[in-house]
Amino acid sequence: MKIVQYAMRGNPVDVVKVLDVDAPVAGPGEVVLDVQASPINPSDVLTITGDYGILPPLPAYCGNEGVGLVVALGEGVDDVVVGQQVFLPIGAGTWRQQITAKAAELVPVPPGTDPLQMAMLAINPPTAYLMLRDFVRLDPGDWMIQNAANSGVGRYVIQLAAAQGAKSINIVRRADLAEELKAMGADAVVVEGPGMAKEVRDITGGAPLKLGLDAIGGDSTLALGDCLTDDGLVVNYGLLSGEPCKLSSAATIFHDVSLRGFWLARWFRSAPIGERMAVMTEIGARVATGELTAAVDSTYDLDHIGDALARSMAPGRDGKVLVTPNGPLS
Ligand SMILES: NC(=O)c1ccc[n+]([C@@H]2O[C@H](COP(=O)([O-])OP(=O)(O)OC[C@H]3O[C@@H](n4cnc5c(N)ncnc54)[C@H](OP(=O)(O)O)[C@@H]3O)[C@@H](O)[C@H]2O)c1
Repeated sequence: MKIVQYAMRGNPVDVVKVLDVDAPVAGPGEVVLDVQASPINPSDVLTITGDYGILPPLPAYCGNEGVGLVVALGEGVDDVVVGQQVFLPIGAGTWRQQITAKAAELVPVPPGTDPLQMAMLAINPPTAYLMLRDFVRLDPGDWMIQNAANSGVGRYVIQLAAAQGAKSINIVRRADLAEELKAMGADAVVVEGPGMAKEVRDITGGAPLKLGLDAIGGDSTLALGDCLTDDGLVVNYGLLSGEPCKLSSAATIFHDVSLRGFWLARWFRSAPIGERMAVMTEIGARVATGELTAAVDSTYDLDHIGDALARSMAPGRDGKVLVTPNGPLS
């Protein structure tokens, strides 16, 4: 079977290789899964380049989430059936054709759901949900603002904010996204640039704007912080620019705007199991019904992993790039 591996850190397009290896065999209590779909997330790219918060020892396998089909059962597995669709083990190196998993830890995919949407469930939707829930209380009618609003996380934020009655201002770097994001529930779409803070004040009419979600860093954090009102909070959760976060003295001194970070991996480590289950169950139900969706740009098989990675890092994509290691999903 084919598996994506890298033996050195660097530009993913250059260092990632597809190897042909023996197909896995299910041990006692295990199953073998055919991988159906797994997204290429920015964290996958940062892990390969060596810029992420946790780095695996080399050589390493890529891919962190997705969905698959049970194709073989190991000894003692009697409560799982061949053909069942399940979520892949998180962080297991999912860009491969087959993977083993412990039968007792399998979580079934709700029947009749879109496998590409379900493949993106484990990371971005809970990130959006927790950032809206845990930092600044948003009552119906309250405003929030975010940058990189057309990203997967950004689109979940738009849909979740709208569902709870909060109003979102969405900063993008391409004006042509405005109608699409408004159709998902965005109240306003603003193109990042000079004069943005005034444009945002005109939109809110000067109403409190206390939560800013920042996926970019650098000057984009600065611009976001300058839009917030007194006691506002910028939550930085991504490093798309690779630049350290900045805040203006006007924001910090005159408006007491502050900066915090969010990392889902830390939340998973610290939240009690009951809390993790509750969040994932709620989010899973909302993705399953189509209430929460992310755009899909394209899918690639493993033979074209270099093209897939290049596309995932290119500006102006129309959504997520996913790998479908056993062929396209109809
Ligand atoms: N902290 C956490 O726990 C956590 C969890 C999940 C995701 N994240 C982070 O959240 C961010 C978004 O992830 P995602 O999976 O939602 O991303 P995504 O769907 O892959 O989309 C990222 C989008 O951001 C825009 N973008 C890229 N670089 C940019 C830049 N320098 N300035 C402005 N816009 C830029 C691009 O849109 P255009 O080219 O169309 O402008 C791109 O399509 C990433 O930084 C990711 O690492 C963090």
